Formats: sequence, structure tokens, C-alpha cells
Amino acid sequence: MEIAIQKADVLKQPPKDADLSFGTIFTDHMFNMDYNPEKGWHNPRIEPYQPIVMDPSTMVLHYGQSIFEGLKAFKTADGRVQVFRPQENFKRFNRSADKLCIPLLDEAFALKAMQELLRVDQRWVPSTHGTSLYIRPTIIAMDPFLGVRASYTYRFFIIMSPVGAYYKEGFNPVKIWVTDKHVRAVRGGMGEVKTAGNYAASLYAGEEAHDAGYTQVLWLDGVELKYIEEVGSMNIFFVIDDEIITPALSGSILSGITRDTVKLLAEKWGHPVTERRISIDELMAAHESGKLQEMFGSGTAAVISPVGEVYYKGKTLKVGDGSVGKWSQKFFNAITDLQYGVDQDTDGWMVPLD
Ligand code: COI
Repeated sequence: MEIAIQKADVLKQPPKDADLSFGTIFTDHMFNMDYNPEKGWHNPRIEPYQPIVMDPSTMVLHYGQSIFEGLKAFKTADGRVQVFRPQENFKRFNRSADKLCIPLLDEAFALKAMQELLRVDQRWVPSTHGTSLYIRPTIIAMDPFLGVRASYTYRFFIIMSPVGAYYKEGFNPVKIWVTDKHVRAVRGGMGEVKTAGNYAASLYAGEEAHDAGYTQVLWLDGVELKYIEEVGSMNIFFVIDDEIITPALSGSILSGITRDTVKLLAEKWGHPVTERRISIDELMAAHESGKLQEMFGSGTAAVISPVGEVYYKGKTLKVGDGSVGKWSQKFFNAITDLQYGVDQDTDGWMVPLD
């Protein structure tokens, strides 16, 4: 399928790298493609970045049938643009589509569309270490209809945003609030899916955490409120007595691509990650006995984010000495050195703009 390209008449001025935060500024163009049962996915096009006009009855607005992905393009010191593991994102995009009853995409075509858009707007990829061009593929249900069923029509779009650090703390340790009242997802539900509703479900507890001075919520399982799941914008890792542990995927935890990268790197370094159930009580006990050495989150937006403090049921737990731990630093360095082309990519993780 040919991708039609209509360039914007007036181009915007990208911000200075030093002024970048997360998700506030968008590039000059976007990719759009439509689906209907007669034509399937059709009319792929790159157009000026613009609003999506929709009927107030459009299904996505009422029932949240939507999925998204998040991935990043980086600029190397010698000016090359490369994207981190994009095939994994489009695989997961299709797994999410399946769960939300959205027609699947041709993954290779979606990747090509993303690269085409990136080529058109490549002057927007910032170059300072810690900055990147965040890419957000999204699919939304477009039928104007108020009955509850899967939509017959869809829009697939990709937008891009030059970003700096996701958290205002940057790479400094964040403070995490463990909620013992609210749950994000339950097994058999949508927790492992990248869908809008999961993020809406996290807002209430998120506000509670913010009001108490914490950056993010750490979610416990939705049945017993006992086992640690994820942070919502990140997966979570612990270093206890020199063992690196992450909660096993249970169906209610997002299968993070940075999580997978951490696992693969640790394996390569001969210090494999243990994936298993870990309870909040075990974490508290590990801290009590002085065995909790480190805790960090992983995610596309957050990269590696050390955790310095955890709040649970009236107790505040300081992780290690509250500064960036050795493993957090090692994973952060390894991942970002690959992304910015400092290290040679021997795993085929970096996809160059061809
Ligand atoms: C990402 O890490 O890309 C995410 O999707 C997390 C968040 C910004 C929603």
C-alpha cells in the first residue's frame, strides 16, 4: 500500500533540548489510516498534525475502545536516527488489538508507516543525552453509535513528541506510594493490555499519592492486595540479597519492552532476573532485615527510574541509602548507551531510519 504524503505549509520551530519535558509538544505531521469492514485498513497517509473531528457519539468517547503504544527514536552523536525495538511494540499493539476486538494491523506495514513519518519529521529528533522523540501509535473506535459492541470502523494514527525525562526527578530516585485500597487490574481483565481505561483506572489513587508527596502508585494484585504488580507507567524490579527480582507476568501486568530488555541484559551479564510472585510483606521484611538493596522501575517513557522511598500502610521505607543503586545505574547506562549509539548494538535492537 502506498502512503500518501501531504506536507504542512508552515513548519513549527522545535523547542530547545533543554526545555523539553514529556508529551507537551508535537511534530509537524501525523500518520492516519482508516478501517471499515468493506475495505479493511485503507487510505494510509501522512498529513499535517491536526485535530481529529468526530461525532459526539463516537464509540471511543463512551466505551474506551482504544489501544496505544509508546516507543522512542534517538539521535546518535554522528547524527543517525534509530528506534529502540519497534517490532516489539507493534507485536504488543496487535496483542492489545486482539483483546479490544480491534482488527489487527500488518505489523511490517505499521512499522514502515512509522518510519515514513519519522523520515518526514526527523529534524524533530532531539540530540542531547536524556532526550528523544516519543512515538505514540494509537487506534480508536470510530462508529457513531451508543450501543455496547465492538465498533465496525477505526482510526489508526501515529503522533510524535520530542521529550526529556518523564519524571521531574529525572534519573534521581522517585518516591512510590503503595495503595492498599485501590486496584488497577485483576487477572482475566485488561491489565496486560495497553488500553486507555487502565490509565483512567489509575488516576484516583495517583491523586492520593501526589497529595501525600509521592510520584507514583505501586499497585498490588486485585484479588488479595498482597502481591506486587507494577507502577502503571513502569514495571518494577527489586534487588534483595543480590538477587534481581521482578513480579512474574500474571495477565494483569503489562509486558514491558524495557522490562524484557532488563531481563535480557541481566542474563547476558550472568546475573539473571528471577520472575516470581513477590508480596508487599516480603518487601517490608527484606527492608527490615537490611536485605533490600535496590528498587527501580522500567518503562519506555521512564527508561530506568530508581526508587528511593516507599510508603505502605503508614510506614515509610528508605531503599538502600536513598541514592541511585549500582544495578539501576548499570541498566540505565547499558540501555541508554545502546539507544544513543555509544555502544555497538549486537542484538539488533536498534532499528535505523533506512
Ligand atoms: C510508556 O512508557 O511509553 C508508557 O506508555 C507509559 C506512560 C507514559 C503512559
